[in-house]
Amino acid sequence: NVSVTIGAPMLGFTAVAKSLADTVAVPAGYSVAVLYRLGDPIAAGVGAYANNGTDGNFAQRAGDHHDGMTYFGLAAAGNAPDPTNSSRGLLALNHENITEVYLHPNGPSNFTAAGPRPEAEALKEIEAHGVSVIEVNRAGTSGAWSYAPTAALNRRVTPNTPMSFSGPVRGDPSLRTAYSPDGTTGRGTINNCANGTMPWHTYLTNEENWAGYFRRDAGDLAVRAATGQARQNESLRRYGIGEGRAGNYFWSTVRPSNPADTRFRRWNATATTGVAADADFRNEPFQFGWVVEIDPFDPASVPRKRTALGRMNHEGCEIGRTVPGVRPAFYMGDDAQNEYIYKFVSDAVWSAADATRTDRLAVGDKYLDRGTLYVARFDATGRGQWLPLVFGQGPLTAANGFTSQADVLINARLAGDALGATRMDRPEWTAVNPATGEMYCTLTNNTSRTPATADAANPRAYVDPKLPQGDVVNADPPTSAQATRGNANGHVIRIREAGDTSEAISFAWDIYAFGAGADLNAQNINLSGLDASNDFSSPDGLWFGLPSNASGQVTPVMWIQTDDGAYTDVTNCMMLAAIPGMTGDGGARTVNNTLTTAANATTTSQVNTLVGKAPGATLRRFLVGPKQCEITGIHSTPDGRSLFVNIQHPGESGSIANLTSNWPANQGGAAAGQRPRSATIVITRDDGGVVGL
Ligand code: FEO
Ligand code: CA
Ligand code: CA
Ligand code: CA
Repeated sequence: NVSVTIGAPMLGFTAVAKSLADTVAVPAGYSVAVLYRLGDPIAAGVGAYANNGTDGNFAQRAGDHHDGMTYFGLAAAGNAPDPTNSSRGLLALNHENITEVYLHPNGPSNFTAAGPRPEAEALKEIEAHGVSVIEVNRAGTSGAWSYAPTAALNRRVTPNTPMSFSGPVRGDPSLRTAYSPDGTTGRGTINNCANGTMPWHTYLTNEENWAGYFRRDAGDLAVRAATGQARQNESLRRYGIGEGRAGNYFWSTVRPSNPADTRFRRWNATATTGVAADADFRNEPFQFGWVVEIDPFDPASVPRKRTALGRMNHEGCEIGRTVPGVRPAFYMGDDAQNEYIYKFVSDAVWSAADATRTDRLAVGDKYLDRGTLYVARFDATGRGQWLPLVFGQGPLTAANGFTSQADVLINARLAGDALGATRMDRPEWTAVNPATGEMYCTLTNNTSRTPATADAANPRAYVDPKLPQGDVVNADPPTSAQATRGNANGHVIRIREAGDTSEAISFAWDIYAFGAGADLNAQNINLSGLDASNDFSSPDGLWFGLPSNASGQVTPVMWIQTDDGAYTDVTNCMMLAAIPGMTGDGGARTVNNTLTTAANATTTSQVNTLVGKAPGATLRRFLVGPKQCEITGIHSTPDGRSLFVNIQHPGESGSIANLTSNWPANQGGAAAGQRPRSATIVITRDDGGVVGL
């Protein structure tokens, strides 16, 4: 019997000012401690991180670019889960990418498409990707947090860690490579962005910009076309792996000391003439783009790639409310311009007893391997439809090029195209309000959105860098470089399932808030009336906590994190707290958004959209990060008194000769000459209270 507050302005802190300082700023009465930094050792015998480019062995150190993260409570002793423990737990977190320059003494060597990259450098860069699982402990119930460098459950999952495939695509010919001739296994995970926290105590890590790592030389298209792989050519095109790509870091140019070592050449997807498709690495790109489930309580367990959830640039994968006897839903964004929002509905109905089973990956098999994947269509009426990705239904037939259910899942984007799903402004994280079951999704920005492609759910599009709309409406040109093209500041959309059930095939939607500088015009940019206490741009990380205040009142708090480039002339990236209302609250306002289609032109078009109540005091800036960082990754202890947040790539635009950030060495004092490091921080309230309320 708890009372739940929805939409009341109960945030209990003073807003943090926008800032360009090289530090993490939090409200008065709060403290920040740096917990787990790039290079920190996680196994016995691994030395402290020198942070000068000489360190190796990243398979036993923290990786780079900390991202999505979950805190799993541990029993006071031993290795079993205890979801009530707020002073001993496991942190599972993603290492999405690398700031390559800082990993080597003088930056990368032979950094050209011809290479060859030095083997040790490439191995370091590869192993700095993936996932960490580390034990964290609080001294007493209110003391300092630290991570345990030699704990038994510490683990690094890297792009070289053995994985198994499960679900409908397991064993498909498209997964077969020289490493996995039967298409049931694979190596590793890469560009792991947001996450998902399963009620059975497993961690979902999601493969986002995997395509960028692959090389594909000229001539590959023709070899595939001649060997029956025309479908693969179509798929590679749709997922952005055209011919002539050299790949992000040229890892495939390594000439390994052991010629049988394929950990480098696997990143070249070019087909070898005269070699069978499953005897080289042309199919390696199909091994990526999946949701991966990890059991953090069993370091020997083999992570499982859950193919039933489709293949895309997976951002996050969060489960909706679980109700016994009802099939649960899992919400996902495909983060690229004009891609889609998806949900997977399990075939299995929820059984609360599964949350305490010890065969956790078998529970994952039950809920994540069989079910229906849907893609979202947002209609201008404020309603929407979930369209099923089922082979043989609707347009998903052989006549349109689809060959099987596995083919539909591998090519979820092509299926979404065929079904007429709504092209969104880069779907990032998903989060579910635990009090209402409503799903929120950040749409970070979209520089390619034009008046011709704007729609009710993605209504902002400005193609004139002079912003004539801003001039006309306010006679007050914006002071920053925001909103110069497309939807530069992003928005947060939310849906309420029909009948408030995860099984629904239709929903209502509105826009929770549009990002904008408070100085921008209210007619068609600052549509949510943001002010200096809560203006933001490019929402990305998104998570709901459910803390209770001193009187036991439970309040869902939504945390919004930014990954911005449009407002960064005014402020570093940030995190805000919100206590949102509900879809359509107060009667959604219909905003008539007039779009100017060319510089100084008189041509306009109009897009109407549905906007929720202006957030006002229910949305407030809680944190601003150091220079050139992104704020991403958030979770808390179950008591809500310790909040874990990741600071990704501080100083990413600097160089060894010109360090643009010294964070986190400077968080506690002087740090001249220290290279910046991605890191996990923990935020607590000085009076020991719940964070945010
Ligand atoms: Fe890794 Fe879509 O951010
Ligand atoms: Ca992100
Ligand atoms: Ca982003
Ligand atoms: Ca990033």
